[in-house]
Amino acid sequence: MKRILSGIQPSGKLHIGNYFGMMHPMVRHMETAELYVFIVDLHALTSVHDRDRLRQGTLEAAADFLALGLDPERCIFWVQSDVPEVCELSWLLSVLTPMGLLERCHAYKDKVAKNIAASHGLFAYPVLMAADILLYQAEVVPVGKDQKQHVEVARDIAIRFNNTFGETFVIPEPEIDETTAIVPGLDGQKMSKSYDNTIPIFLDEKALRKRVMAIQTDATPVEAPKDPSTCNLYALLKLFAPEDKMREVHDLYINGGAAYGYLKQDLFELINDYFAPARARKKELLDNPDYLRQILAKGAEKARAKATVTLERVRDRMGLKY
Ligand code: TYM
Repeated sequence: MKRILSGIQPSGKLHIGNYFGMMHPMVRHMETAELYVFIVDLHALTSVHDRDRLRQGTLEAAADFLALGLDPERCIFWVQSDVPEVCELSWLLSVLTPMGLLERCHAYKDKVAKNIAASHGLFAYPVLMAADILLYQAEVVPVGKDQKQHVEVARDIAIRFNNTFGETFVIPEPEIDETTAIVPGLDGQKMSKSYDNTIPIFLDEKALRKRVMAIQTDATPVEAPKDPSTCNLYALLKLFAPEDKMREVHDLYINGGAAYGYLKQDLFELINDYFAPARARKKELLDNPDYLRQILAKGAEKARAKATVTLERVRDRMGLKY
């Protein structure tokens, strides 16, 4: 059985990019893998400095996963900060991490390019992520394309560690499904909490309709042929529509007759139907936060037992046991 691990930040409402890039693949892997799923609140602290928002975001992310079908009996599901060993490993890995490796990371470079004051935490973000992955000896890490580079940093650090201190870490592989690697947002850029272009998974009907109607499209007249490969509405429809429906839509794009307004209405209905059962379950789960806390505490206990085994080995290899 492969050991598969991935995490998500509780820094805002989870959206359909998160769903197709990571949550859906993770729930599917539950059938056949030893699965580790966690909510990365320590990473979220690089952007969220509001106590209530972080606490609520963490509980909501837990409810989202459970509502979408994650079964805590068949995986290890926890909150990152409940296993503080990860911070120690992060430091131990940081002494082997070249500055240049981190300076090349997009998330950090983007902030610097936008003149946003980047914190040391943001700079060191990939090292903490490497610690997340290596602490549990994960073999496969399902992510969207934006996180590929960070998994590669984790691989690089693991290889350096093994070469310096002897075989210790499993070298992880990113897993990226090309059809959902970059889900576009309302404006056609990558869907992202930080661009305010998302379609959150758990919106009520009215808000969802409003979001879908706000998808930006070009001004081509209805009768004119359109290029499906450059249309974000088309890309979003493709995620939800059955194949026969998509063939029809494709013909309309190629031959003319694709009316964006009608297609948006179709998309709204498809998304709404797709997530309606999960939306009802989420509501029930959020009504019982103690139940969520209990599940997360149990998960943290299991995760911690695994983490301490790796960390003891690392400490020993590095000479911290005297
Ligand atoms: P985060 O919270 O930004 O995103 C969670 C997952 O959703 C994917 N994703 C997307 N996939 C396709 N299209 C999109 N538009 C889109 N937007 C987001 C992300 O690629 C990600 O897989 N650094 C990670 C969290 C993390 C982690 C880890 C992941 C911390 N430690 C260890 C794996 C292993 C992040 O910020 O994800």
